[in-house]
Amino acid sequence: MKKIPVWIDTDTGVDDAVALIVASTLPEMDIVGVSAVAGNTSLENAFRNARDVLSLVGRKDVKVYPGADKPLIIDLFTAEKVHGSNGLGGAIIPLSDAPIETEKAWDALYEKAKEYKGELVVCPVGPLTNIATCIIKHPDVVDYIKELNIMGGAAIGGNVTSCAEFNIFVDPQAAETVFRSGIKVNLFPLDVTIKAYLDDDDIAEISSYGNKVSDLFRDSNDLLYKAQERMSRSGLCEHDSCPILYTVHPEWFEGHECGIFVETQGTITFGKTVTDLWTDFKFEDRHCRIYLDINRESFANRIKEAYRSF
Ligand code: BDR
Ligand code: CA
Repeated sequence: MKKIPVWIDTDTGVDDAVALIVASTLPEMDIVGVSAVAGNTSLENAFRNARDVLSLVGRKDVKVYPGADKPLIIDLFTAEKVHGSNGLGGAIIPLSDAPIETEKAWDALYEKAKEYKGELVVCPVGPLTNIATCIIKHPDVVDYIKELNIMGGAAIGGNVTSCAEFNIFVDPQAAETVFRSGIKVNLFPLDVTIKAYLDDDDIAEISSYGNKVSDLFRDSNDLLYKAQERMSRSGLCEHDSCPILYTVHPEWFEGHECGIFVETQGTITFGKTVTDLWTDFKFEDRHCRIYLDINRESFANRIKEAYRSF
């Protein structure tokens, strides 16, 4: 089987950890690099967590590169209330002893994209600072990336403000740089990721598997669960596993062609992903597909299968 070469860019919080774990178990996927970015937590935490999670699942061979420690222009806004002060909801896992990469994320990503000659799929699941920096520093990278499967934004509503989703809110200027770059984007906004949840039975099942990876799941998700309860949602939304599982199972998702523009000026609407869905007014030169529906059962079953396999 020809594997899909994938690069994952993550602000390694608790649902990012699930996404990395699931990705590591997909036979269809070749994880050719991971980069860390500040977002849910500091760059230092995100970088360490990505390395430690990959080590926990036996994938020390996957190199992790450090990226941006703050957004392009504005100050960093983190999500300790949801991801804890260490980014893993307070769960402690062994430190990875893999060699520490010092090459910057955007340079390493550029080299890898060139190596794969237009075949590389990039899955950003945090603020888009590293990807935007790569585009600004290496403009021809747009010719080498096959597509960006991004978790971010919301066609309706938000989870930080009434208009903005976290990943876009943290660095809207970076997001707008990415959406106008010309790279093909598949966007997984809150509209679909809130349907991509593990319910209480799924959570109990994974927590009972009794292996070191399922123990991390059991020990890291309390704050996220409580945050979702505050928003009147039960279960755990696995936002960041959406672009990962879409990459190998696009048939589980339903999307629509559209243009996306990010509001970087407004006060109330700051960080909003404005779409031209269902209107005759179309944004020019934006190559996006926005995903709004998911086969939740297949999605949740694949996540459970991943955790059972350790
Ligand atoms: C996104 O924000 C982060 O808190 C999650 O990791 C996910 O990437 C959801 O809005
Ligand atoms: Ca994330």
